[in-house]
Amino acid sequence: MIPNHVAIIMDGNGRWAEKRGRPRIFGHIHGSARVRTIVRECGKLGVKYLTLYAFSAENWGRPADEIQTLMRLLCKYLAREEKTLMKENVRLNTIGDIEKLPSMAKKILKDVILKTSHNTGLCLTFALSYGSQQEILRAVKQIAQDVKEGKTTPENINEGNFKNYLYTHDMPEPDLIIRTSGEMRLSNFLLWQAAYSEIYVTDKNWPEFSTEDLHEAFGDFSKRQRRFGLVDARIQ
Ligand code: FPP
Repeated sequence: MIPNHVAIIMDGNGRWAEKRGRPRIFGHIHGSARVRTIVRECGKLGVKYLTLYAFSAENWGRPADEIQTLMRLLCKYLAREEKTLMKENVRLNTIGDIEKLPSMAKKILKDVILKTSHNTGLCLTFALSYGSQQEILRAVKQIAQDVKEGKTTPENINEGNFKNYLYTHDMPEPDLIIRTSGEMRLSNFLLWQAAYSEIYVTDKNWPEFSTEDLHEAFGDFSKRQRRFGLVDARIQ
């Protein structure tokens, strides 16, 4: 069973590099090669939405040279992969406070998003300058503004339409969230959207996460019984 929406917390680039006595940046370079492989594999397997946590709101606190490397790798990935994304019918999307990104990254993101906008295969979303608490606060502020302007009332707000104020308003909720490098937490990623997501944690660091590891995660997912707060249909 292939999940419709897979979201990945790509963690452990730094630890992977440090274990090899190399700088953290080395881990990010290998990590970005993994992005290429996993995007391709998800497209092949028929995943409809893939969301990758590429740069968190909190990552702005990292040393300037590391931030610069991550931004460069993102630009390089997009420049290199644009043709492949077109060929493989992938549509690019972003969530997060994109305005904060350097202008070079904003420009290339905008270009590739526009070029791939009519593609109908995998929707690849990069979470960039993304924090879920910030996303929820932004939604609350927009709702307050809409109430102030008489566009809605507090009584009208419910789980269904709250979603319209989130960055992910045009995406289904993630079915499976994969986290690499063994940490058992969501780290401010898709907190609202993950209410009923299945979570899969592997000890592998992101630069060593292979297509076999992805298959293993999907195999595990297909054994889960998802009840969405209801009762198990087989034991009613
Ligand atoms: C976690 O490793 C990963 C990131 C901070 C971001 C993910 C970035 C990439 C995969 C590379 C470039 C991205 C694209 C989109 C091409 P970490 O540094 O937190 O690892 P650590 O927890 O071991 O220190």
